Amino acid sequence: MTILTDAFADRNVLITGGLGFIGSNLAIRLVDLGARVTLLDSLIPQFGGTLVNIAPVRSRVIVNISDMRDANSLDILVQGQDYIFNLAGQVSHGDSMRDPQLDLGVNCVSTMNLVEACRKHNPAARLLYSSTRQVYGRPEKLPVSEDHPTLPIDVNGINKLAAEYYHLLYHGTYGIRSTVLRMTNTFGPRQRLRGDRQGFAAIFLRLALAGEKISLYGGGGQLRDFNYVDDVVDAMLSAITHDRCFGQFFNLGSERAYSLIEFVELLRQTCRFELESVPFPEDKKIIDIGDYYGDYSKFHEVTGWTPRVKLAEGLERSLAFYREHKADYWP
Ligand SMILES: NC(=O)c1ccc[n+]([C@@H]2O[C@H](COP(=O)([O-])OP(=O)(O)OC[C@H]3O[C@@H](n4cnc5c(N)ncnc54)[C@H](O)[C@@H]3O)[C@@H](O)[C@H]2O)c1
Repeated sequence: MTILTDAFADRNVLITGGLGFIGSNLAIRLVDLGARVTLLDSLIPQFGGTLVNIAPVRSRVIVNISDMRDANSLDILVQGQDYIFNLAGQVSHGDSMRDPQLDLGVNCVSTMNLVEACRKHNPAARLLYSSTRQVYGRPEKLPVSEDHPTLPIDVNGINKLAAEYYHLLYHGTYGIRSTVLRMTNTFGPRQRLRGDRQGFAAIFLRLALAGEKISLYGGGGQLRDFNYVDDVVDAMLSAITHDRCFGQFFNLGSERAYSLIEFVELLRQTCRFELESVPFPEDKKIIDIGDYYGDYSKFHEVTGWTPRVKLAEGLERSLAFYREHKADYWP
């Protein structure tokens, strides 16, 4: 894999959603690579953003607390940026059904404001958008490659798909160099473990750490793929520096699929908790995509990216991080 690490030294980088889980890990890496990093985040309380996430680099980044649904700050913030990683978003599929207007605002209006700000004030910037495998809906065949139909089964998937196309439209129409990564279940340090909004990996990690019972819906045989956050950061740095990525979308994915039972059994190697199988709750069943794992060969062929951290090792590193930072992430 080639990451052009010197591509970021002394360059200006804006990360939207930069105080969240993935954004903060990306920020820490970029500071290490010598970039001048600005983090834009609204710190909406139920989302994953917190200043604690950037503790290791707090004095070396600029933090702007503002909301992208209001275009004004973006018009200023995009100016002079070499790279813009657009990670701000609402990640809960269930919440997108309960509050579709909020999802529309944070995933679509925000993105529209960003690409418009780039068109007006910085058309030379390189953009990366963090999308999701949820845009495919229920897989018709596995593994899912980029030519699979996009038939989202929740509001979040629709809004993320629209946001992808704002980026690609502005690439095709105005020449703003944009790439879309369709990410899968990402886990690792700095993810919000409190609450139930950040997906099952975060919920299972919290319950395992607290020694509380984990309930698997419908037996837990569902297949998923997982990426450790450092691999996702590698993918983002790679995508935004490879010219051949612009104007396209790419899947991420892992070396193999795991059932949810396998995921939980890996946690049981170091944590003690009970396990039960329960019927699928109706509100979760209607937005469940069944088995999913992605084919990331297209991205591998263009950039050489391949995930390096296997699930067991990633979970071990994550548990160690959260044990050390219990008060900040999962009291
Ligand atoms: N975590 C995953 O498994 C996963 C998988 C696929 C895609 N993604 C995508 O990756 C991105 C980052 O996800 P994450 O897991 O780090 O989530 P996160 O909730 O930890 O971070 C998202 C951040 O965006 C900020 N934000 C939301 N709306 C905003 C707005 N209007 N203006 C400014 N900031 C705003 C939040 O305050 C939060 O800090 C999201 O776009 C998500 O859809 C994540």
